[in-house]
Amino acid sequence: MPLTCLLQLLTITFVLYIPIDMSILQENISLKSFNTFGVPAHSDYFAEVFSETDLQELLRMPIVKQLPLLVLGGGSNVLFTKDFNGLVIKVSIPGISAVVEQDDVTVTAGAGVVWNDLVKYCVGSGFAGLENLSLIPGTVGASPIQNIGAYGVELKDVFESCTAYEIATGDERTFSFDDCKFAYRDSIFKNELKGQYIIAKVSFKLNTKASINTQYGAIQAELTKRGILDPTIADVSEIVSDIRVSKLPDPSTIGNAGSFFKNPLIDDIQFEPLLAKFSDLVHYPAPNQKVKLAAGWLIEQCGFKGIVAGHTGTWKNQALVLVNYGNATGKEVFDFSDRIINEVYSRFGVMLEREVNIV
Ligand code: FAD
Ligand code: EPU
Repeated sequence: MPLTCLLQLLTITFVLYIPIDMSILQENISLKSFNTFGVPAHSDYFAEVFSETDLQELLRMPIVKQLPLLVLGGGSNVLFTKDFNGLVIKVSIPGISAVVEQDDVTVTAGAGVVWNDLVKYCVGSGFAGLENLSLIPGTVGASPIQNIGAYGVELKDVFESCTAYEIATGDERTFSFDDCKFAYRDSIFKNELKGQYIIAKVSFKLNTKASINTQYGAIQAELTKRGILDPTIADVSEIVSDIRVSKLPDPSTIGNAGSFFKNPLIDDIQFEPLLAKFSDLVHYPAPNQKVKLAAGWLIEQCGFKGIVAGHTGTWKNQALVLVNYGNATGKEVFDFSDRIINEVYSRFGVMLEREVNIV
């Protein structure tokens, strides 16, 4: 075929496809209001999906298959250090349903449900299991990605399964508990399957007979202070929410993404000499003969707590939380996090790993 004919054919194909595909794709979108750090960034394309059908159709569009993809929920665990040259898919699939069988409850929620709305629904319905995870920002769909955790409970303790769509094919797949390979702030979705699936809904196994988890010191202390001897799940939810508000900055006023680093897990060989040198080292037992160190303590010891460095810095009540004090860029926050990593390493020989997803 002559080149001119081929070009004509390609142009016709392009004209036929693009208007259909582009109709749900927005172009050159600011991501500032889509990340809780509140840093500036743009994406070439942006699409919001409200149903599993929308999501599957989007993934099967020819133009979408050619673009780098980034999935966003509430944007509360990402740091944009540059613009995203591809398509951001914001997952806003709604809906909560519950199946009660005697004491057992299976609750299923759409990936776009705000996490704390799910917690409030469950606490209000008397379904126990999520109360210690009250007030964690973000969406249900992101909760398995880093196996969210707080105050003695992790998502894995209540996870039943999730439904996800493969980015390459648009095919649906159900992931069981075992499939997800959950660990501390970790899952298969951050490793082998990183960037390969979009979670559309998650099911949780809860219980109407509350087995309250108050092992976390701060919860115990607050129960004693409030004179509560026989706590309900609503009490635990309220206490956890109050502790969180007292420690963590509210992203609607001070940009942040919660803990910027993971608490490091080290083995005995590294731990013993460290404890001998720093007798007040804050640490906890962890699975697989590891010891978990409090990254906040390590950072505070290096003199970083509450400091302001240009437009960024750490939070006054929690050195593990990096903040945007106004007009910070993601690059500035990232460079500051490098400074912290270097300082902590040279003082303690411990390498901090970022918890926040860097884009
Ligand atoms: P996003 O930030 O939008 O995305 C996070 C990651 O998940 C990205 O890699 C994204 O691509 C991916 N992703 C998002 N949705 C999907 C989906 N549907 N399918 C596939 N991939 C997806 N975390 C804790 O674990 N414990 C805490 O106590 C805690 N406290 C916090 C306190 C504050 C003030 C803040 C700002 C954050 C805190 N976080 C905490 C971190 C954050 O809330 C969680 O990581 C949360 O699960 C992120 O949800 P999100 O919807 O905002 O995800
Ligand atoms: N500490 C300090 N200085 C600080 C902060 C902490 O010395 O500035 C020491 C204190 O001894 C304190 C201990 O560290 O008792 C633990 O601090 P905290 O209870 O605040 O918990 P954390 O280990 O800093 C972790 C999670 C949080 C989660 C809380 C409560 C990680 C990376 N962070 O923080 O999760 O809410 O426990 O369970 O595991 C998040 O992931 O974004 C997050 C906020």
